Amino acid sequence: MIKNEIKIFSPATVANVSCGFDVLGFCLDTIGDEMIIRKTNKKGVFITKIEGFDLPFDAEKNVAGVSALAMIADAKPDFGFEIEIYKRIKPGSGIGSSSASASGSVFAINELLGRPYNKTQVTDFAMKGEALASGSEHADNLAPGIFGGFTLVKSSSPLEVLQLPTPNDLYATIIHPQIEIKTADARAILPKLFPLQDVITQSANVGSFVHALHTNDYELLKRALQDVIVEPHRSILIPHYAEVKSAALNNGALGAGISGAGPSIYTLSKGIENAKRVEKAMRDVYANTIIAFETYVSRINTEGIREI
Ligand code: HSE
Repeated sequence: MIKNEIKIFSPATVANVSCGFDVLGFCLDTIGDEMIIRKTNKKGVFITKIEGFDLPFDAEKNVAGVSALAMIADAKPDFGFEIEIYKRIKPGSGIGSSSASASGSVFAINELLGRPYNKTQVTDFAMKGEALASGSEHADNLAPGIFGGFTLVKSSSPLEVLQLPTPNDLYATIIHPQIEIKTADARAILPKLFPLQDVITQSANVGSFVHALHTNDYELLKRALQDVIVEPHRSILIPHYAEVKSAALNNGALGAGISGAGPSIYTLSKGIENAKRVEKAMRDVYANTIIAFETYVSRINTEGIREI
């Protein structure tokens, strides 16, 4: 039976994963937004409650509203939707805050419509909301939230998402320094052209990373988690970046890099004990500064957005 109301958990995500700028991403489990979406007699999309952060109630100015409006413009239901957003992921954190809102609303509406759209189509609608926040239609945070696990965006137009396997023992540790970096600004500082040798290195790494996921090869995964294209330009925006990264690697992390556009830094570890050791090492770096921060340790969430 199709429901009239649904409550969902829309998880945070890590985009880029060092070697896969704008193409790779994975889904976290211990941090995410909650949303309640219900049908209304009145047609349209109405944001009725927002808790956690100050965001627009006007559906056309809210990422969750924009993606929802795109979906109903296509589905044309003879009813509307109310959206309540319980925001836990800070906007501008680099762990897919806008993406969680943009994908949560369309995931939920698709369920309330009886699931007429597949995951790729749901992601396509969510891209309309993501574009409002970041100025470009990229799906590298949306796809892992909607599909779960690791994803690779093969193409944005037409959208093609590949679902990659998740090694069982892989855990993420995130440190989020409480400064804000706007995705649009972090994109604006990137060069438009890169030296051929860097492009070759990056291509070899992204291919190796995908192979490592398929073969459970943690040694190869570690060697593939390098970013010669974006990190050199963006890392200067994140205070103590090099120290945090070294602390993580010296404590057994397989890799560490900027999460999405930053300022969060992500690491991957084999086993939860190692992920916790890395968490402590990264906390110790920031504990000696005046910058407030949060940390999260999470398994890789292979389910993605879920009903709760
Ligand atoms: N791939 C995007 C970027 C993710 O790094 O700019 C942030 O939205």
